[in-house]
Amino acid sequence: MKHISLILFITVFLIAACTPSVNNTDARLDKRVDSVLQLMTLEEKIGQMVLYTSDWDVTGPTLRENYLDDIRKGHCGNIFNAHTVAYTRQLQKIAVEESRLGIPLLFGYDVIHGHKTIFPISLGEAASWDTTALELSARVSAIEAAASGLHWTFAPMVDVSVDPRWGRVSEGAGEDPFLGSVIARARVRGFQGPSNDLSDTLTVLATVKHFAAYGAPEAGRDYNTVDMSERVFRSIYLPPYRAAIDAGALSVMTSFNELDGVPATGSRYLLTDLLRTELGFKGFVVTDYTSINEMVDHGVAANFAEAGLLAIHAGVDMDMQGEVYFNFLKKQVEEGLVSEKLIDEAVRRVLKVKFMLGLFDDPYRYCSEEREKRYVYAPEHLDAALDVARKSMVLLKNDNQLLPLKKGEKIAVLGELAASTRDMLGSWKAAGDWDFMQSTLDVLREYNGEKNVIYAEGAKKTGDDRSGFAAALSAVRKADKVVMVIGEDWDWSGEAASRTSIQVPGVQTELLAAVKKLGKPVVVVLMNGRPLDLSREHLLADAILEAWYPGTMGGKAITQVLYGEYNPSGKLPMTFPVNVGQVPLYYYAKNTGRPIYLPNPKYKSRYIDAPNDPLYPFGFGLSYTRFEYSALKLDSKQLTAEGQLKASVTVTNSGAYDGVEIVQWYVRDLVGSVTRPVKELKGFNRIELKAGESKVVEFLLTPSQLAFYRQDMSFGTEPGDFKLFVGGNSRDVLEAPFVLK
Ligand code: BGC
Repeated sequence: MKHISLILFITVFLIAACTPSVNNTDARLDKRVDSVLQLMTLEEKIGQMVLYTSDWDVTGPTLRENYLDDIRKGHCGNIFNAHTVAYTRQLQKIAVEESRLGIPLLFGYDVIHGHKTIFPISLGEAASWDTTALELSARVSAIEAAASGLHWTFAPMVDVSVDPRWGRVSEGAGEDPFLGSVIARARVRGFQGPSNDLSDTLTVLATVKHFAAYGAPEAGRDYNTVDMSERVFRSIYLPPYRAAIDAGALSVMTSFNELDGVPATGSRYLLTDLLRTELGFKGFVVTDYTSINEMVDHGVAANFAEAGLLAIHAGVDMDMQGEVYFNFLKKQVEEGLVSEKLIDEAVRRVLKVKFMLGLFDDPYRYCSEEREKRYVYAPEHLDAALDVARKSMVLLKNDNQLLPLKKGEKIAVLGELAASTRDMLGSWKAAGDWDFMQSTLDVLREYNGEKNVIYAEGAKKTGDDRSGFAAALSAVRKADKVVMVIGEDWDWSGEAASRTSIQVPGVQTELLAAVKKLGKPVVVVLMNGRPLDLSREHLLADAILEAWYPGTMGGKAITQVLYGEYNPSGKLPMTFPVNVGQVPLYYYAKNTGRPIYLPNPKYKSRYIDAPNDPLYPFGFGLSYTRFEYSALKLDSKQLTAEGQLKASVTVTNSGAYDGVEIVQWYVRDLVGSVTRPVKELKGFNRIELKAGESKVVEFLLTPSQLAFYRQDMSFGTEPGDFKLFVGGNSRDVLEAPFVLK
């Protein structure tokens, strides 16, 4: 006990009445940090660089059994996968009351798309293109997490990816660096709060992950090799990390992959030169789960000790679960292989964040049962989750205006996923529960009346069991219309869930084909965590609604969209290919020297067995109403170095429903010192239009938006001819030329 008092006395004395926040002057904070650092033994310092999982929830391959003892001895300063006020308080008590110095623990968790109230998976949220809603989702997640005793989330995951085989596309914001950056910023603001005040007990520290380029594993296989040019890295993959850091995220997680032959966790280029020197990152760097150890298997270190040396010299401050810093660092310092100054720097960064969180003022300030009770599953959080779930849904097809359905018609509901609640939460469901949730089937019954909903499972999510087909077909015969909920098991996307086929698994589509033969109109509702090859479903279904894994309120959101209580407005944040052979397929491709529109089809950049175009392009999504674009105008044909160009377009809702449209602005640089993408997203507007209403939508373009990595790798513009495009997706656009002077 005397030690807690010592630490508390010193820190309270030093800072007097000042509330720690990101805005505190660094000098003041540094003083506080040093006041603690000077009391610490080398072992205790290393303890602050150690992060272990609790056994409450385990998210990786290892568990250190005696982590409680480590906390007690000051050998572990940070814990993840522990939550609830009662449990975090119990662990905090050990750190504060039983360790020599009483330094409080930092508690982290993967709060990715909700803590208890679960929002749609991140890719689904990105389909809303609604940064206000996304910020609110992160805000709500932070509030519930912080109210459950947590200080730190391992989010946002900002890895750009163009490969739907990679299961972790479900955790990101899709393929586009611009959209990804806007979303990264919104999420950091949501987690850390609009004023970035970590001392607010309803915010959590954000982690930008996985640094860097984790989203580009070869062949889409998780953890696989990443190799790309520096130009591609900087132009496509880096911007969302940069945006999140600029937004104030104070921790960064290293990635499992190598980049240009160097595993990220041992890359001084990535973690020091780029991250700290160039991007100006001021927080601490944590590894991914045992990624220091994995450098042995990568083949850049002969043993864990060597791997640890690579990590510490690269700039890694905290070892997640690897036990490498704990086992080897002390001896390496004593042998002069690592300077204690380096250790001090790492510990300072960690302690500084603990100060900012206010943990030295009151280690239990996040442990309030009252707050936990007030905020977890608060009605306003469930409302927010419903709102985001509806906004995330993308209408991919709607022949003959089959949707919205009419209340009171008899519907056959098919598919294991229709009755599932667990799947609705997707991967990384944090502490979300599904026992009390309503499935899509539950809500459809409630909404449309028990007698008007005939359920037959028909097909499982996986496997080749056709024994349910007959009952399903008999249900269809009795119904006016069919709603089939198909897709992937929740565990088929997320970490370690790469696929070589991206088709709807099992015999679900076979059942769809059998249903189709009965001639009833069929709506397919999809639950999945990645772009799928929907070529067969596109031909078989009359309407397709992409619902992703929509979260706690998913059943209600799906029902409201199906019945037109909400007019779908989501747009794809990733291209949906015709088949897996087209992968990677993304809208910002290069033209190549042999584009397919030139005469003589033979020697062109094309496939002989499939089109080049996707099934559904980036930015695509239908509405129950129709939006028409006309009168694209530029206020000048020229953009000067200091100037700006104002573009406007008229968007008309020419259908029968009020709706929301996402107006997307793209540019193309026609000639550059290096080849340029055929389109690049530069902005978007989310507009609401009543049926019959028109609006003029404006977009301001400045030269900085046209900058790129030129041939000599300098970042800037090149004068010349450009095109500006606008439309409701990346394919169907109006265009206007302009010149950059
Ligand atoms: C994942 C990270 C996650 C960490 C902790 C790792 O396996 O790659 O994204 O934050 O586990 O759960």
